[in-house]
Amino acid sequence: MTPSPTKAVAIKPATGKLAILTPGMGAVATTLFAGVEAVKRGIAKPIGSYTQMGQIRLGKRTENRYSQVKDLVPLADLESIVFGGWDIFPENAYEAAKHAKVLEKDLIEELKEPLSKIKPMSAVFDKEFIKRIDGPNVKTGKTKMDMADQLRADIKNFLKENGCDRAVMVWCASTEVYTPATEVHATVKSFEAGLRNNDKSISPSQIYTYAALMERVPYANGSPNVSVEMPCMIELSNEMGTPICGSDFKTGQTLIKTVIAPGLRNRQLGVAGWYSTNILGNRDGEVLDDPGSFKAKEVSKSGVLTDILSAERYPDLYKNISHVVRINYYPPRGDNKEGWDNIDIFGWLGYPMQIKINFLCRDSILAAPLVLDLALLMDLGSRAKMRGIQEWLSFYFKAPIAKDGLTVEHDLSVQLLKMENTLRFFSGEELINHLGLTYYGVDEGDNV
Ligand SMILES: NC(=O)c1ccc[n+]([C@@H]2O[C@H](COP(=O)([O-])OP(=O)(O)OC[C@H]3O[C@@H](n4cnc5c(N)ncnc54)[C@H](O)[C@@H]3O)[C@@H](O)[C@H]2O)c1
Repeated sequence: MTPSPTKAVAIKPATGKLAILTPGMGAVATTLFAGVEAVKRGIAKPIGSYTQMGQIRLGKRTENRYSQVKDLVPLADLESIVFGGWDIFPENAYEAAKHAKVLEKDLIEELKEPLSKIKPMSAVFDKEFIKRIDGPNVKTGKTKMDMADQLRADIKNFLKENGCDRAVMVWCASTEVYTPATEVHATVKSFEAGLRNNDKSISPSQIYTYAALMERVPYANGSPNVSVEMPCMIELSNEMGTPICGSDFKTGQTLIKTVIAPGLRNRQLGVAGWYSTNILGNRDGEVLDDPGSFKAKEVSKSGVLTDILSAERYPDLYKNISHVVRINYYPPRGDNKEGWDNIDIFGWLGYPMQIKINFLCRDSILAAPLVLDLALLMDLGSRAKMRGIQEWLSFYFKAPIAKDGLTVEHDLSVQLLKMENTLRFFSGEELINHLGLTYYGVDEGDNV
């Protein structure tokens, strides 16, 4: 049966200013900053943003009732956003946007005034974790705990200087070398001891995560860095009553994968192999050219198919699947990534077929609206007193995280349903299960 309407969740109103803080002010972050400023000025539309463009069905189909997402739940208004960030390079967002070469020069010039005001705070950086780049705008300190304290001071100062009521942090910095959790990441206590002892396995992104959570700032991880899924961070986010989510924005090839793979599985079509390769020439591509950083990306990209096309549950269809992921740094293409997927599938009686996908995408154009949505939805979740892992935001990630013991959901349409039902739940609307049962005396209109 469709659950009956619940009472709306008490959510603090989105009054005052919201700081969106991004570690990393490169291509994705500056495309977001410029995009929001352009939308505010009416020069462009926020295409790709669910919070700004999305609609949600409410009630039964017979009611024909739809709402803009932003009218259903109390999201922060674009006018109330103040952007800030950290970067190892000292360029302001205007200069960084020019460097990133994602947006047209004319647009960047038109937005010079607001973008020039966004100046990066000095970063917590460690060459051991990002090999291909280095920059001068970095913090120094005796211990990693000193670094965390400096980040916490940055957050507090930013809020004060900009008259902001609250903040959210979305990691938009480079991908670190893949480093799985160690014992130091087991509990908050062991992690804090590690910060004080300069434990080698603690990465900069983990220091940002810790600092954000300690300041009760919701944290979303846009890269495949290992941070939000670590037991110590989950413990801390629950303790501080602050939401976390991640990891790795689901934008190009993986977005398409999580649309197509569930479709094949739902039709019980077999997959013998899936070969994905792409060429990319931006700074992200340069960082991913390092085998350690690539490993992190490979892990987050590969998990998707293993989970969707479960060999354990469907041995006849997916037992011997060969899944290959390649990323090739190729400077001439800049941010305009080109991806190729070759999918070897088989159908009735095992007869083979092939699917080819050639996606000429723009990396940061796809990622920027996700950062905006995540920031606004994490802020909403925080005001709704959500804490710990925000599984309802899996929609945005290549490697979503779920509570221990739960399977991760990768199917984009199931992820959307989960997010929509969470928004319906927040606003006291009936949850929708699309059952539509018309037999057995079930009233037409009851489950539509
Ligand atoms: N664009 C996409 O479609 C997409 C999709 C999924 C994930 N991502 C991830 O988003 C992140 C940002 O991508 P991008 O294209 O903007 O990359 P980018 O290289 O243009 O920008 C990253 C910025 O982070 C800075 N940086 C590196 N380490 C830092 C640190 N410790 N503290 C502060 N700043 C630091 C770099 O100097 C750089 O300016 C990457 O991790 C990328 O893998 C992007």
